[in-house]
Order: sequence, then structure tokens, then C-alpha cells
Amino acid sequence: MTTFRLNGREVTAKAPDDAPLLWTLRDEIGLTGTKFGCGIGQCGACTVHVNGEAVRACITPTSAVAGQAVTTIEGLGGSHPLQKAWIEAQAPQCGYCQSGQIMQAAALLKSKPQPSDADIDAAMTGNLCRCMAYLRIRRAIKLAAGQGAKA
Ligand code: FES
Ligand code: FES
Repeated sequence: MTTFRLNGREVTAKAPDDAPLLWTLRDEIGLTGTKFGCGIGQCGACTVHVNGEAVRACITPTSAVAGQAVTTIEGLGGSHPLQKAWIEAQAPQCGYCQSGQIMQAAALLKSKPQPSDADIDAAMTGNLCRCMAYLRIRRAIKLAAGQGAKA
């Protein structure tokens, strides 16, 4: 059993301590916005925040978040500036990678509200997109940062 805060409310998961957080979120708690891509920390599809930091839920044991604050894409609420910018920039193609992309970008903007192209590329390099939407994703991040004219 692991008790943690999830999107602002306390939850207790019954999953074994070593169960990946990704499956606890998806299968036990029913938050399916966080996606499974590779399962080995290499694609970023499963990115969530733990205490505001972007982490890969597929390689994070559920017990590791005991007492911590976890935020998933559902926790952004739908009207986060990045979500609005994502729509404006038409960032997704198939959409599968996009929850992870947005969560990674949200962590970036929290630490660096005015990122350069190089900052964005460095922060987003571990989030793969099979549809090659990288330029639209970068544009969306800049829109959310209020850099629309420079996107
Ligand atoms: S599914 Fe977690 S990094 Fe790929
Ligand atoms: S939009 Fe299809 S994988 Fe990124």
C-alpha cells in the first residue's frame, strides 16, 4: 500500500511496492492519460510530475512516491496555458506521445518560464514523437511562454 497525493487529493494504492507507477495510475486508479510507450524510460510517453519534477512513471516504483505529490496530465485540468497553446499550434498528430510531451514542457516552463530554442530542445530531447511533431511542439511551448511572435 502506498499513500500519496495525486492531482491534489490523497490516494492509497494497493499495488505492490515495486509495481511501476504508470500501471498503478492507469490500471488501479483509472487515469489513462499517462501513456505506455517503451516501459524502459526511453520515450517519455509516461511522463508525470513528482513534486513538480518530470519523471518517467514506467520506471518509478509506486512505493517511491509515498508521501509525495504526483501530477498527471489530468491534473492540469484542461485549461493550462500549455494545453491551450497545444491546440492553437495544432501540435498533435496521432496524439499518443502528447501527454508526456505536455508534462515535460510544464516542468520546463516552471523552471524556465522563457526558454530559448536550445533550452526547449535540451528539455524535450527524451520525449519521442513517432509522428515527428517536434517543430509544432516547440512552437506550442513558445506560445505558452508568451513568445508567439518568435515561434
Ligand atoms: S513508457 Fe516510460 S519512458 Fe517510455
Ligand atoms: S503525435 Fe503521434 S507519436 Fe507524437
